[in-house]
Amino acid sequence: MTDNIFPVPAAAAAATRTTMAQYRERYAQSLADPDGFWREQVGRLDWLRAPTRMGDWSWDPVRIRWFEDGVLNASANCLDRQHPAAIAIIWEADDPAAASRRISYGELLADTCRMANALVALGVDKGDRVTIYMPMIPEAVVAMLACARIGAVHSVVFGGFSAEAIAGRLQDADSHFIITADEGRRAGKTVPLKATVDEALEKHEGVRVEAVLVVRHTGGKVAMHPERDHWWHELKPQLPETCTPQAMSAEDPLFILYTSGSTGKPKGVLHTTGGYLLWANLTFETVFDYRPGELFWCTADVGWVTGHSYIVYGPLSAGATVLMFEGVPSWPTTARFWQVIEKHKVEIFYTAPTALRAVMRDGDGPPGEHDLSSLRLLGTVGEPINPEAWNWYHRVIGKGALPIVDTWWQTETGGTLISPLPGATPMKPGSATLPFYGIEPALVDAEGIVLDRAEGEETSGNLVVLRSWPGQARTVFGDHERFTQTYFTTYRGKYFTGDGARQDKDGYWWITGRVDDVINVSGHRMGTAEVESALVAHKDVAEAAVVAFPHDIKGQGIYAYVTLNAGIETSDALLTELRATVRHEIGGIAVPDHLHVTPGLPKTRSGKIMRRILRKIAENDFAAMGDISTLADPSVVEALIEGRLNR
Ligand code: WTA
Repeated sequence: MTDNIFPVPAAAAAATRTTMAQYRERYAQSLADPDGFWREQVGRLDWLRAPTRMGDWSWDPVRIRWFEDGVLNASANCLDRQHPAAIAIIWEADDPAAASRRISYGELLADTCRMANALVALGVDKGDRVTIYMPMIPEAVVAMLACARIGAVHSVVFGGFSAEAIAGRLQDADSHFIITADEGRRAGKTVPLKATVDEALEKHEGVRVEAVLVVRHTGGKVAMHPERDHWWHELKPQLPETCTPQAMSAEDPLFILYTSGSTGKPKGVLHTTGGYLLWANLTFETVFDYRPGELFWCTADVGWVTGHSYIVYGPLSAGATVLMFEGVPSWPTTARFWQVIEKHKVEIFYTAPTALRAVMRDGDGPPGEHDLSSLRLLGTVGEPINPEAWNWYHRVIGKGALPIVDTWWQTETGGTLISPLPGATPMKPGSATLPFYGIEPALVDAEGIVLDRAEGEETSGNLVVLRSWPGQARTVFGDHERFTQTYFTTYRGKYFTGDGARQDKDGYWWITGRVDDVINVSGHRMGTAEVESALVAHKDVAEAAVVAFPHDIKGQGIYAYVTLNAGIETSDALLTELRATVRHEIGGIAVPDHLHVTPGLPKTRSGKIMRRILRKIAENDFAAMGDISTLADPSVVEALIEGRLNR
């Protein structure tokens, strides 16, 4: 790994509101006197009743509260207190020739109130879960804020998930309301959203949905169920454009977001109102050093936590202008990002390493044809950034003069935990650098013993966090025991991130990737167990084992080993069916890059699949197989290697 240090660029250093010395001092204060530190921060939000209590939490047993006696409304913080004429969202369509939209805070507030009134009219009460299955259009933001306005809990499901996946999430969240659109558009193709919702509702009797609110976007034809389905454009003109925000307790739920873990079905990670919003707001303003009037573009989808925190709650609560993009980086060409930056004069650009790798294949030419001089700051998120991608981003997009904030965080953390501050922190390509205020990361060994790092040395281990922060998830919806088991039991009383990390001699943090059975495909989390159970849903599959392998563009790819039932022969047709099964059970993002049909899987005598061996074979690394003598049938390994070599 490179260990080059890039000093803070001169312009960023000259303009910064936080120097390195100030960061160090505030960071030390945030740990030494957390109550005092947070008391100074609560004024960032508008409260109906300001909190007097700061953090009140325990991780053994797990009970997490922040600002508990505070009362506020998240949508009021994102809308009512902003200047109505200021632009909240600039929307750029998938089709570069289509008109963009500019939506002011005043318009966003009016639309949000109308949709909130529509939800109330449809029967949504405070605390009800509303499932949102939307394309990347401003109405997705309206839908989220409309829920927040009336105290309903949104559960956004990424528009690429299948009907099965929607049904599972509806059922788990016990959600009876859906907001969707006729269709989405991505890379010139239409995405059938309403039809997928219909499929989810028709095939699953356990799902009981009372109302579906449908936004007309493409104008494509969709079936409307007379009592159940309602067109947004028909209701909208009749609805009042004001709606009193519900007074929410800081610890009332704001949203659920499903995310993959190492075992079982995706978990509904639950975030509450006060702590989450404060964390999103504070990290947004500090990590991006946001200045009023600047245009901020986060390329994530609102279906992921990055979209929640850095398209919606962070920027809007700070009165920022966000760019919202419906399309993808490489359509119609790999210059699309650069064209959009030039067109709208984006100041801050936040994307994922996988997107950079996908567009840097075409070299320096495409960005060179666009005026990127509006850019002031670059950011990345979602996976470790390889130094090649970092250097390209820095040299070609940032012309060697812009800071890059490599922000490490998770769905469960609500917002960034480790990141440079752009005007303060010298950068190292591939390192998320230093912890944010209030965050105390540590490395532990297999026994959970915290590894001390001697001055000037480096350490590596599993990454834990030692104390709570306001943006931390509070529970897994409907299953607090699973929350405790997943995050606080491996290393009792510590928050286990699932990531491995290294802390270098300067104290900088380097995230090395997941150490559990979670795969990070193009910055999206996918559980190996989920993909395995999708594969075994096919009648011809006896067993499946899924591992990650390094992928040039995606970071990690999905490699699936399957064994077939007796008498079944492998064929191209069967492989196509298996891919279709995964697409059907989960969605396109979970379809394996490699399907390897094998007569057997490497198992110990007690029947445990040895994934270490499967990973090595997927990586084409046959020399370092380690000890295979404990296998029930060591000859399986030879067959697997032969199968790999023949691919
Ligand atoms: C990975 C996305 C290295 C990590 C916000 C984490 C990163 C998982 C970084 C969470 C980064 C995210 N450097 N790895 N800057 N950012 N990750 O829940 O493995 O979709 O545990 O949240 O992404 O993914 P999630």
